[in-house]
Amino acid sequence: NNQNHVIPGNYVSVVVVMIPLPAQGHLNQLLHLSHLLSSYDIPVHFVGSATHNRQAKLRRVHNDETSHPIQFHDFDIRPYPCPPPNPTATHKFPSHLIPSFTAAANHLHRPLATFLHTLSSKAKRVVVIHDSLMSSAVQGVDTISNTESYTFHTVSAFAVALHSLERQGLFIGSSNDKTTTLYDGYFPKELNVASMEECFPKEFLEFIGSQFRQLPKKGAGKIYNTCRVIEGQSLEVIERVEPQFRHWALGPFNPVKISSSMKSCSSHSCMAWLDQQEPRSVIYVSFGTTTAMKDEQIKEIAIGLARSDQKFIWVLRDADKGDVFDVGKVRKSKLPEGYKHLIGDRGLVIRDWAPQVEILSHWATGGFMTHCGWNSCMESITTGVPVAAWPMHSDQPRNMVLMTMVLRVGVVLQVWRQEVVTADAVEEVVRKLMVSEEGEEVRKNAEKLGNVVRQSVEDGGESRRELEAFIAHITR
Ligand code: UDX
Repeated sequence: NNQNHVIPGNYVSVVVVMIPLPAQGHLNQLLHLSHLLSSYDIPVHFVGSATHNRQAKLRRVHNDETSHPIQFHDFDIRPYPCPPPNPTATHKFPSHLIPSFTAAANHLHRPLATFLHTLSSKAKRVVVIHDSLMSSAVQGVDTISNTESYTFHTVSAFAVALHSLERQGLFIGSSNDKTTTLYDGYFPKELNVASMEECFPKEFLEFIGSQFRQLPKKGAGKIYNTCRVIEGQSLEVIERVEPQFRHWALGPFNPVKISSSMKSCSSHSCMAWLDQQEPRSVIYVSFGTTTAMKDEQIKEIAIGLARSDQKFIWVLRDADKGDVFDVGKVRKSKLPEGYKHLIGDRGLVIRDWAPQVEILSHWATGGFMTHCGWNSCMESITTGVPVAAWPMHSDQPRNMVLMTMVLRVGVVLQVWRQEVVTADAVEEVVRKLMVSEEGEEVRKNAEKLGNVVRQSVEDGGESRRELEAFIAHITR
């Protein structure tokens, strides 16, 4: 029984309100954090539209029987305008979703303010944790009595640190159009990262800019889904650049347990298939929830995987599927004819939602071909699985640098900038990760880092202590 949950008329000491951006990779993280906080008997309210709350509930990976219930609040805000994807778009970023983000942030503002006023009269303290891209929704929260707000970054601390340095003009030089050189004294100079213009289309940079300009002035702090044993250096840079805020690294939000048992307990059919494989012999291939690929690209991946001679699980989502919204027509991703017959029992193609964390935690999984979305990076780090990095857009090209050059837990698909990556390149990177000396080295690094991270969330570990300090801080 959660004594603390807000029942009309009851007074509680602290209550947390989560404001996620309605995109799957963002929702997931605040949901995990919600479960983590509610496991400390803190009441958590998860706020959004009916559509995105339904999506969050559908896709959550937690077992509710073991957690305290989170209260979902569906505000009746107008459906977000969401035109179908533009087939002629040149950027890989899903730009068609931008209007829905802007609308979500704006439309939530009023109903949220009313809700917070009501809560603040029933609680000693209301703690608002909002996605950094939902600042318009939380305008003015600092003026509500008993209320304090925390900005939550869904990307790596590395990406946040670089962006903070950029905003302060602390970059020097530019080796070519696509990369910028980091200011000496913060990160090694030789770490070349993709420019923001390469990572995001202009209209999304404008959206980021507008949300950052509206960040609460008197924000109580910033929260990251990372921990100091992974990103201590980046967190120090952020603390130097933004000393006015307290920065909390509370991750990993979704600590994984590696099972040594030879038989997995999950009901998904791919787990029974994994149980039949050799240790560390399978590469898991998945590109998150926003990557839409052309048929031509899907064909090259299919052939590359087939030729690599490695076992694989490939999550192949439908080409233009927007995850949170009903985007209209969905173009079915096509596999080459006769493909299933060609690969036989050597590979599985999953056409819907895969149990990613369970797959990565399985002893038969030895590599992860990923777009380097931050959830996927954190999940591969905590499970100790090395990556073949193929970034698409957003923070992903920068996460790739973190994973492969800073942490050295992955290899790069060198030609990721090309419009279509060939089957040869896919085959080469799969073999490099799974059966080369370089692959073996990054595997050892990944396993070592995974152990360190898992230890840090145990009782007395560094990450656990920071989380407990945060809990003590908000329940003070
Ligand atoms: C987006 C951005 O792309 C990413 O760069 C940013 O850091 C967060 O928002 P997304 O592209 O969805 O994220 O990728 P990722 O961050 O990796 O999140 C995907 C999540 O969905 C992961 O937690 C993954 O475990 C889960 N997932 C995805 C599944 O469990 N099963 C699937 O089949 C696909």
